Amino acid sequence: MILIRPRLKNSSYPICVGCSLKDLGKGIQKFIFHLNRTPNKALLVTHPSIKNLYGSLIMKSLTHSKIKSSFAFFPEGEEYKNLKTVQLLYKKCIEAKLDRTSCIVALGGGVIGDTAGFVAATYLRGIPLIHVPTTLLAMVDSSIGGKVGVDLAEAKNSIGAFYQPALVWSDLETLKTLPKAELKNGMAEVIKYGVIKDPKLFEQLEKRISKNGQLTFNFSSIVARCAKIKADVISQDEKETKGLREILNFGHTLGHAIETETGYSAYKHGEAISIGMCAAGFIAEKFRMWSASENLRLSRILKSAGLPIRLKKTLPLKNLLTLLFRDKKVLSEDLRFVLPTQIGKVVVKKIPSALALQGIQSIEP
Ligand SMILES: NC(=O)c1ccc[n+]([C@@H]2O[C@H](COP(=O)([O-])OP(=O)(O)OC[C@H]3O[C@@H](n4cnc5c(N)ncnc54)[C@H](O)[C@@H]3O)[C@@H](O)[C@H]2O)c1
Repeated sequence: MILIRPRLKNSSYPICVGCSLKDLGKGIQKFIFHLNRTPNKALLVTHPSIKNLYGSLIMKSLTHSKIKSSFAFFPEGEEYKNLKTVQLLYKKCIEAKLDRTSCIVALGGGVIGDTAGFVAATYLRGIPLIHVPTTLLAMVDSSIGGKVGVDLAEAKNSIGAFYQPALVWSDLETLKTLPKAELKNGMAEVIKYGVIKDPKLFEQLEKRISKNGQLTFNFSSIVARCAKIKADVISQDEKETKGLREILNFGHTLGHAIETETGYSAYKHGEAISIGMCAAGFIAEKFRMWSASENLRLSRILKSAGLPIRLKKTLPLKNLLTLLFRDKKVLSEDLRFVLPTQIGKVVVKKIPSALALQGIQSIEP
């Protein structure tokens, strides 16, 4: 097991990579020592399909550690990451009689983690949250850093909080049941880390992602490396007040706009940000901030990983531009994009609307 700890002022926590679900109960007892006591009760928030795969294993582990557990479900899909689901989950918290010594266990991908995390952050003004990510995307990204929240129909991730988990427990064995399409989805964030911070990781990915899109990796080192990059970035800028954390948003400015404009169902998160990274690469090339050859490396690796580099069909330019202005990086009504300067380095830059429009046009089908 690889243990990573972000260095946060008040709320550092263990990120365990390569541990086993069957040891979750023991992990909670061992690692959650900074809470007054080990939680006596847990609400496991998940989808029914994930419960079928891993529910009994986790339940057994928690029971063995004298943590009384029950399940709360909601349907799969980004379109359920909303306030209606949050309300349903609050009811489940009350039915399960959770108090401040209880915890919420988010068992699943980023949709589960973000939504259950928001419930944990707000129920009784906050109860401990344990992330048990089961998708590649959630292991390398969404379970780390404390951003929890849900979407509004008008804008993605627009309701939320910074709320760090007490523990992140990543069992890589769960990736064996993950559909290939979801693995690709997670690869978008893995590639993102290469572009923003880790040229060696990028090169390694270039070598390993074969032409037919076979993603045959030692996921242990990939997940640990990405988790460490994210932990380091959030350690420097926990609540996005210093501008450093914004680099994690590479590809997300337009990616989020695409997800919102298409009703959160036409593109997976990773697919949308893959297209968003291509648009950012195009804009950076236009600015002469990075070379055409590096831009080609970016689109090539995304394509080989089976990710889209263009939209499936044209979306209204005006709508996408309006959505770009709802992005949280907008300051004093200026659009700001995370743009690459070389593989391994990005900067945040103010860009004129006309160039954003060209960026959008560059990813049209
Ligand atoms: N909070 C953050 O910092 C942050 C960062 C990045 C992304 N996100 C959010 O994460 C979400 C995307 O997460 P995601 O890509 O994990 O999608 P997801 O949570 O929708 O999971 C994808 C699908 O995989 C299934 N699944 C999960 N684990 C499985 C397993 N082990 N075996 C079989 N099936 C499994 C799920 O049931 C679901 O149908 C988006 O809402 C995005 O905004 C948040």
